[in-house]
Amino acid sequence: MHTMKESEDALAVKPEAEKFKQLVEKTRSYRRFVQSAMISDETLRQLIDTARLSGSARNGQPWQYMTINSPQLCERIFPHLGWAGYLQDWKGPEPGERPAAYIFCLLHRKRSIVSEKDAFLDLGIATQNLLLAAATRLIMGCRIGAFSPDVKKLFDIPEYLSLELIIALGHPAEQIALDEMHNTEDIQYWRDAQQVHHVPKRSLEDILMTLKTR
Ligand SMILES: Cc1cc2nc3c(=O)[nH]c(=O)nc-3n(C[C@H](O)[C@H](O)[C@H](O)COP(=O)(O)O)c2cc1C
Repeated sequence: MHTMKESEDALAVKPEAEKFKQLVEKTRSYRRFVQSAMISDETLRQLIDTARLSGSARNGQPWQYMTINSPQLCERIFPHLGWAGYLQDWKGPEPGERPAAYIFCLLHRKRSIVSEKDAFLDLGIATQNLLLAAATRLIMGCRIGAFSPDVKKLFDIPEYLSLELIIALGHPAEQIALDEMHNTEDIQYWRDAQQVHHVPKRSLEDILMTLKTR
């Protein structure tokens, strides 16, 4: 049971809670980077070292991660990626503003997988923790689900591993604004004349709900 004291405590803005919310706000999908600003092997390892601590259905932990930061390999991966589907006039980041690193997320099909749904929930949790950890280092990223299957031909991927998601990473070279959604159907992100990328988010009032009890 909640006491009045507890709910007052919950309302008080605690510095840690506020800082965490700001980190979540900052952790957006970035698609333009300072390509020349390399991300070291060690940093990439640290990001995965944080991600591996994430919750996992039945603690199966079925995901494997491969990090890539060589400019030559990044250049070969880039053409296989689909960028910002809603921005019809934008073909993706130009040379010089492309990702400096990638993390391939591969499902290990010989590991305990409760269900595909649970495996992908695990991936969502792990990749969000990874991106939050990156943001604390001022490295931003974008999950890329829209990649061409041809990207798999660049590597010898054993049959028990399936590539499901690619995370693009780099030091950000764009501005992003979070906007409150006024029209609940208006989900598309857009860019203004200054090329600021706007991302509409549903309001708290819109997503909070109660159901009648029976
Ligand atoms: C599972 C998943 C797959 C995504 N795939 C792509 C993609 O292929 N290309 C892309 O540009 N953005 C991709 N995104 C980024 C979304 O477009 C982005 O999360 C959304 O526009 C909201 O922006 P935000 O992440 O800054 O909140 C993906 C995001 C998720 C969670």
